[in-house]
Amino acid sequence: MTRIILIGYMGAGKTTLGKALAREMNLQFCDLDWYIEERYHRTVQQIFNEKGEDGFREIEKRMLHEVADFENIIISCGGGTPCFFDNMKFMNAKAQTIYLKATPEILCEHLKMSKTERPLLKNKTPEELIDFISGSLAKREPFYNQANYIFDISLLNSIDKITDSVHLIQNLLNNKAE
Ligand code: S3P
Repeated sequence: MTRIILIGYMGAGKTTLGKALAREMNLQFCDLDWYIEERYHRTVQQIFNEKGEDGFREIEKRMLHEVADFENIIISCGGGTPCFFDNMKFMNAKAQTIYLKATPEILCEHLKMSKTERPLLKNKTPEELIDFISGSLAKREPFYNQANYIFDISLLNSIDKITDSVHLIQNLLNNKAE
């Protein structure tokens, strides 16, 4: 049984690489934010508006416990998921965890290309964005660094680069298992 959880900051490529990796490895794919949105019939933004960040984190934890029972699956979680409650410890107990590690500059580039609404980054100028990311990444990294594997992300701006990263992640998983 295979269960892999991808973690990392917003814009690291968790969803993009998770989908591609699942296809390549013949596994199901689940994005925790999408799962929450389906279960609650609300967007993440609406949940933040209605229940605040604390309310969102409670729901996120609950939904993490649901998806962590799925088998033969790659799960991409939200950027904040590992940093609340005992979520990181829980994920390490249930799955192989991979931290997709990217510099603030790469995260910013990816976020510029992304259409996903992100409540924590709303209304920030490009300069504010890079400062905010650098600060919050430093606070989150102690959690992210607890992952079983760490994968350095390069700029994912073409299909070829996504495919290359998928193969490198597969190598990372295989080498550690040997
Ligand atoms: C968040 C990341 C988002 C989403 C929510 C909060 C965070 O997911 O869960 O907006 O705290 O980093 P992505 O990392 O998929 O953008």
